[in-house]
Amino acid sequence: MPLFPDYSLQTHHTLAIPAKAQYFIEAHNHAELIEAVNFAQLRRLPILILGQGSNVVFTQDFCGVVIKNNLLGIEIIEECDEYSVIKAGAGEAWQHLVDYSQRFHLWGLENLTGIPGTVGAAPIQNIGAYGVELADFFVELQALDIQSKCIVNFDITGCHFSYRDSIFKHKMRGRCIILSVTLKLQHQPRLVLTYQPLKSRLNQYSDLSPQLVEQTVRQMRSEKLPDPLCMPNVGSFFKNPLVSIEQYDQLRQQFPELVAFSYNNEQVKLAAGWLIEHAGWKGYREAGVGVHDKQALVLVNYDKREGNVLLALAKKIQTSIKEKYDVQLEIEPSII
Ligand code: FAD
Ligand code: EPU
Repeated sequence: MPLFPDYSLQTHHTLAIPAKAQYFIEAHNHAELIEAVNFAQLRRLPILILGQGSNVVFTQDFCGVVIKNNLLGIEIIEECDEYSVIKAGAGEAWQHLVDYSQRFHLWGLENLTGIPGTVGAAPIQNIGAYGVELADFFVELQALDIQSKCIVNFDITGCHFSYRDSIFKHKMRGRCIILSVTLKLQHQPRLVLTYQPLKSRLNQYSDLSPQLVEQTVRQMRSEKLPDPLCMPNVGSFFKNPLVSIEQYDQLRQQFPELVAFSYNNEQVKLAAGWLIEHAGWKGYREAGVGVHDKQALVLVNYDKREGNVLLALAKKIQTSIKEKYDVQLEIEPSII
């Protein structure tokens, strides 16, 4: 298995930050994965698992072993009249799984089309878009415990999924390598049109289908999210903040146009893009980085600068949002 020392990661993540790995290994199967882990452990080096790098921000070179997960394969492992259960290798592109499910008329993932990244990273932040999230279809995942090298299974309860969150961002952070993810998809479409902008866009059609929903979501995404190949980015740089209903009511008195989504009985999810735009940041640029002019939640690394330059801008935005609205923005991607 080839091992690359002092390896540039710039083309292995979507922010194109000029960071390097002390060692870089691509693992295509379980044996190679174990070999890579052993290599790191023998040298007491930390491990970083990388998928497509669409949700990481490198703030320095990684002094350790970066293992790129290339475990492939998609199979239907169970079928009944109502649904099929589908298992995908962690290194598969998420979009490949979406396309595969559509080809076999297995429905549910249409709202999640167009999200960059791998299947294995999808549970880390419980990827979500347009009113749907991974947890809605999730059955289980298989992972390699890095210390014991045992294979462990996590069912939906074990994953502790919530909005952009899971146990893999907390207690299990960096402790296991996701090997595969298993989802349950329906044979009969059950369209989810709870996301108002999507619903409005589809109002003009009388005959809705999952394919139409998929195309519409793709269209909406392409209108506001920049292509990382032209404008390096990691999608939303901040989470949409959850605030109490009380705080939301107060904010609405001051900012009647404020956009928010219902979350649960106690909290409301504010549209961080709205907060950032209305604090004057949309389209702002400094030091080769900036705020996207079509979606203020997206920071762009125009000049492929270092991660700290981007984080300095993020910090300014956080301070400004705190001062203007008394709301704390939390960074969404993994900071390395
Ligand atoms: P990476 O960036 O490679 O890794 C992310 C984190 O997961 C890292 O901490 C890494 O160590 C860990 N990790 C990766 N693979 C494994 C594994 N196999 N085992 C253990 N840990 C692992 N996200 C959404 O939820 N919704 C969106 O709509 C959305 N839109 C986006 C649009 C754009 C233009 C971009 C650039 C990003 C967007 N994202 C969105 C964020 C991103 O696509 C997701 O977070 C995606 O799941 C990241 O996958 P990845 O393979 O690139 O992960
Ligand atoms: N808005 C503005 N100005 C902006 C951006 C947004 O006013 O510059 C307001 C608009 O009213 C808009 C609303 O915010 O209707 C919501 O915007 P959008 O539909 O673009 O969604 P978002 O809340 O900004 C979230 C996710 C995205 C996901 C979309 C669609 C988070 C952190 N982000 O963004 O995920 O694709 O919803 O569901 O939850 C990502 O995680 O990287 C990502 C792109």
